[in-house]
Amino acid sequence: MNELDVRLDDVRERFSAAAAGARDERELEELRVAYLGRSGEVTTVRRTIGTLSPEARPAAGKAINEAVAEMEAVLEEARGKLEMRAFETDLASKIDVTYPAIGPPAGSIHPVRRIVEDSCAYFRRHGFAVVIGAEAEPDYYNFDALNIPGDHPARESFDSFWLTDTMLLRPHTSPMQIRTMQAHKPPIAIVAPGKCFRRDAVDARHLFAFHQVEGLLVAEGIHFGHLKGMLEGLCRELFGPNQRVRFRPSYFPFTEPSAEVDTTCPRCKGTAGPEGCGMCGGSGWIELGGSGMVHPNVLREVGYDPDAYSGWAFGFGVERLGLTRYDVDDIRRFVESDSDFLQQLS
Ligand code: PHE
Repeated sequence: MNELDVRLDDVRERFSAAAAGARDERELEELRVAYLGRSGEVTTVRRTIGTLSPEARPAAGKAINEAVAEMEAVLEEARGKLEMRAFETDLASKIDVTYPAIGPPAGSIHPVRRIVEDSCAYFRRHGFAVVIGAEAEPDYYNFDALNIPGDHPARESFDSFWLTDTMLLRPHTSPMQIRTMQAHKPPIAIVAPGKCFRRDAVDARHLFAFHQVEGLLVAEGIHFGHLKGMLEGLCRELFGPNQRVRFRPSYFPFTEPSAEVDTTCPRCKGTAGPEGCGMCGGSGWIELGGSGMVHPNVLREVGYDPDAYSGWAFGFGVERLGLTRYDVDDIRRFVESDSDFLQQLS
């Protein structure tokens, strides 16, 4: 190695070390001037070229230019590192990157949907099939086939939205009993959830558009005990083991015997009180829905032999189930689209 190379190496090494230790842009600039500037160290080395033999000069010039290029690269890299460090320090002073991210607002499953899904899951586990019907059905499926002929007073308890002389928005999910039994031979085990419509005045217990879960089991030897067991199981599934449920004798044209199923009033918790609770009218109970043993006339209508087969059916109001399940004291809460309320229940 000749003398010039030795001096160049020395300059380069000192420059690299100094550049790595520079604390800011200003110190880097001072370094640049001291080494690469017009009267810097490299210039001093370059001046010695004149003392070399003419043959040695081109190689020396080339070596110096290479050293300069290398030092400029070192300078650039040091500048980049400094910039990065400054950026990170700045960021750290403004942003805590360990803070949990705030995601976009996420939706949640609506409580009505959740109850439908949980109810269907319960029945599926017991071997039932889920069937979905239409929201508008002819009066034949809504009434006639369910043992409610045209002049039957029970039609009035299903105060309905009629679309034509014979078509109406279904006031209950019971048409699916008829459609399923007409399409299949017994045994039948179905659950039919869906929307229903009635011209009811809206209050804490009533909506004019609401949901029902319907169930139907028809086979040989089915009795009321089977019905009671399944419905008590459903209530346990939805409400937990401590919620009180009662079967109260009632009347439906399509079941005999019939029972309405009640649970403790979600507003007064069954205490009722002397003035009477605004929700349950002082009885301490609210109705979840109706149930009973499928009427022989209904079985006959779909071509089943009532002497060979028997069955139970029920229809519960999903929003009613929601009152108890989520401890809500007004059914209108479920249709207000109040996302804070819905989020709370999710
Ligand atoms: N369909 C009845 C109603 O909506 C409920 C019910 C269903 C009753 C099945 C008995 C059997 O009121």
